[in-house]
Amino acid sequence: MGKSPQESAVNDYVYKIFPNDLNSKGTVFGGTITALLDRIALVIAERHSSKTCVTVSIDAVHFLAPAKSGDNLIIQGMINRSWNSSMEIGLKVTAENPFSKDQKHILSAYFTFVAVDDWGKPTSVPPLEPKTHDEKRRFEEAALRKERRIHATRQQEEFRKSFKKDS
Ligand SMILES: CC(C)(COP(=O)(O)OP(=O)(O)OC[C@H]1O[C@@H](n2cnc3c(N)ncnc32)[C@H](O)[C@@H]1OP(=O)(O)O)[C@@H](O)C(=O)NCCC(=O)NCCS
Repeated sequence: MGKSPQESAVNDYVYKIFPNDLNSKGTVFGGTITALLDRIALVIAERHSSKTCVTVSIDAVHFLAPAKSGDNLIIQGMINRSWNSSMEIGLKVTAENPFSKDQKHILSAYFTFVAVDDWGKPTSVPPLEPKTHDEKRRFEEAALRKERRIHATRQQEEFRKSFKKDS
């Protein structure tokens, strides 16, 4: 039997934005959020697999709206699907005004991690057993995204092989 997504989920991680998190436009620097999400996704991958994990790809990072100094970032993350050695983690970031409590969805992203052994080689991870309607939907959608990632990687490899050097 597989593990449930809730066993490894991060439901409510709060990060307070300070001035050193901002870009020159005064909104949060995208790289700050991406680094934070990578760490949280790593925690989820290692909780699920009980193994050392490495980031192998980050995709579909959509910055939907800016966050400002003083906002609280609320981060939710969950494993969507596991395969042999890889896992897809989905993350959602909401910015909350600490006084009005107004919330806006500012970012969603998918991270793929691979569990590795002592030699850095991919090693197996436990199966996932989605239980709720949303978990089942994410499980199925993750398979479509994995197919697209593999297809895109193959296409790029083929293109590079076929791209002739100038003579
Ligand atoms: C992750 C790593 C160990 C995989 O090694 P590999 O020889 O490419 O292994 P494989 O080709 O057998 O792929 C292993 C798994 O990764 C998945 N994978 C590989 N490339 C992928 C990509 N671009 N996107 C999504 N999944 C990918 C494969 O589908 C496979 O999944 P599965 O075992 O669940 O079916 C290796 O690429 C690596 O060490 N990368 C660097 C990771 C790192 O240092 N990250 C930190 C950022 S600097």
